[in-house]
Amino acid sequence: TMTVETSGAGPEIADTMYGIFYEDINFAADGGLYAELVRNRSFEFGPVDNPSYTPMTAWTTAATGGASGSAEVVNDAGRLHENNRNYLRLDVDADRRGSAYGLTNSGYNTGIAVERGERYDFSVWARTDAGETPLVITLHDDSGSLTSRPLRRIVRGDGWARYTGTLTATRTSATGRLTVSAQGTGTVSLDMVSLFPRDTFKGRKNGLRKDLAEKIAALEPGFLRFPGGCLVNTGSHEAYEAPDWERRRSYQWKDTIGPVHERPANANFWGYNQTLGLGYYEYFLFAEDIGATPVPVVPALVTGCGENRATDDPELLRRHIQDTLDLIEFANGPVTSEWGAVRAEMGHPEPFGLTHLAVGNEENLPDEFFERFERFRAAIEAEYPDITVISNSGPDDTGAVFDRAWELNRQAGVDMVDEHYYNDPAWFLENNDRYDSYDRQGPAVFVGEYASRGNRFRNALAEAAYMTGLERNADIVRMASYAPLLANVDHVQWEPDLIWFDNDSSWGSANYEVQKLFMTNVGDRVVPSTASSTPQVSGPIGGAVGLSTWRTAVAYDDVRVTTPEGEVLLSDDFAGDAGQWSPLTGSGSWAVEDGAYVQRDVNAENTMVTAGSADWSDYDLEVTATKRDG
Ligand code: AHR
Repeated sequence: TMTVETSGAGPEIADTMYGIFYEDINFAADGGLYAELVRNRSFEFGPVDNPSYTPMTAWTTAATGGASGSAEVVNDAGRLHENNRNYLRLDVDADRRGSAYGLTNSGYNTGIAVERGERYDFSVWARTDAGETPLVITLHDDSGSLTSRPLRRIVRGDGWARYTGTLTATRTSATGRLTVSAQGTGTVSLDMVSLFPRDTFKGRKNGLRKDLAEKIAALEPGFLRFPGGCLVNTGSHEAYEAPDWERRRSYQWKDTIGPVHERPANANFWGYNQTLGLGYYEYFLFAEDIGATPVPVVPALVTGCGENRATDDPELLRRHIQDTLDLIEFANGPVTSEWGAVRAEMGHPEPFGLTHLAVGNEENLPDEFFERFERFRAAIEAEYPDITVISNSGPDDTGAVFDRAWELNRQAGVDMVDEHYYNDPAWFLENNDRYDSYDRQGPAVFVGEYASRGNRFRNALAEAAYMTGLERNADIVRMASYAPLLANVDHVQWEPDLIWFDNDSSWGSANYEVQKLFMTNVGDRVVPSTASSTPQVSGPIGGAVGLSTWRTAVAYDDVRVTTPEGEVLLSDDFAGDAGQWSPLTGSGSWAVEDGAYVQRDVNAENTMVTAGSADWSDYDLEVTATKRDG
């Protein structure tokens, strides 16, 4: 029986209750949301980014009509800009009529996706020692058939200049290639070879891929947390201040603004190159375009994400704190301020209206993190008292780091604490009441990252159920975002993900539909209600099927799974006690027991038992169990 108190006023639900967390993981930026179609456009890829990369990744040489030549990536003083270290030198011998020598880019996934009738904006920086060098630019597919009429440009002189033009696709192709070839003889240098669809989201230059941006916009997110995640969790890397221009793994916002050819391409935490073409200006603009409050995350100079180090460098800390103040000025300052002027010069004199900023992400060392967080917070609050400075509680939903982080956050009266967790669907069902008991006098909660482990309907359903618990506690849980947002199917570092894509299509997961349902139907207030009985623990609730108990040690008797091969008793005494399963070492082992594959995964805090078989993927498996306390 449900009782709804129609006269009672529950907590208000903020418009910013549900939002998105965008991180450059799974090729979410280059080869994803950033609409650039040329991969490795500035020849900056290298083994530092990823052992399989070279400066010629995605490029091959191309010769027609008996031309010959050589292509070499050069790193010398003749470069286009000091932040853009490499460029391509082509020595060309293509004197015969119709001959040309150059190189071809294969884009992302199966290639450069083009659509018949659509226009594509080409640009390249070039210089030549031959006085004049004709360039021929073509779009074609992987078999060589043209998909556009050739574009011709003449490079003049030995000073870098940008050459532009438009290619119109004559055919639709998902295996497109872009070839840039030179004619005549001599040496021509190229850099920043770029091709953008004219039709970007909102028609912006240096813009975003329309189908992906529209799917995100359709969520009507209340906020945009960016750019990470572990991406920003890199503050103490040795390579941080590499003087010899090795790649710096740290994500620093000032690297990501200004003309794109002046942004230093960089190794990304997730093991690939990031061009930073999609940078802070573009993120702020995107947030504005989709009506979301921007919530940047800056590095706190303590690692997380599998590493446990804190930078002990007062000067570096001072600089990062100043960079954070500058970031706020970039977002909100008047055009007469130093960084407000930079924003205006980039095309946005109006402030972006930044109200929230997070320092750090999932640091494993709560004391070291907090010491640095407090320095950031004091500096920000002194200059910008209206900005909400968000702290975090480490990488988990429970445990020693979590407890200590919360203790510090509470003691210091922090405004808002970011919590992250990735658990089984069962956890989400069992923990619907997680925030019912949170201290109303303490910091507010930002659930900055959460997901049940899977993109199946049952995962989406468990998340939906959980979100009712977040919403019921809207007085203390102020913001929540699923994670991660985007994944390129051919470059996955993390799953599940909300939206999937390849080079020419994208699709939302079941979880996406749940997020959309909640985000596009945010209520004004919670309507208090009570229910008189507890639903039975039953039904398909696992990644395959399963039960998990965390520290709360919920006990179950008679845990059974009904499989296509019959009913299997998983346990008649499942109590979340790490000692009870044997052998129970490592992070999970599979064995055939009673005709079912049973996985038992135990660590200090988690006991889990699941059953599954690849052969069962088409079946709805059902787990039933009896909660020991009834
Ligand atoms: O969302 C994927 C990763 O999960 C994030 O980068 C990190 O914050 C968390 O561990």
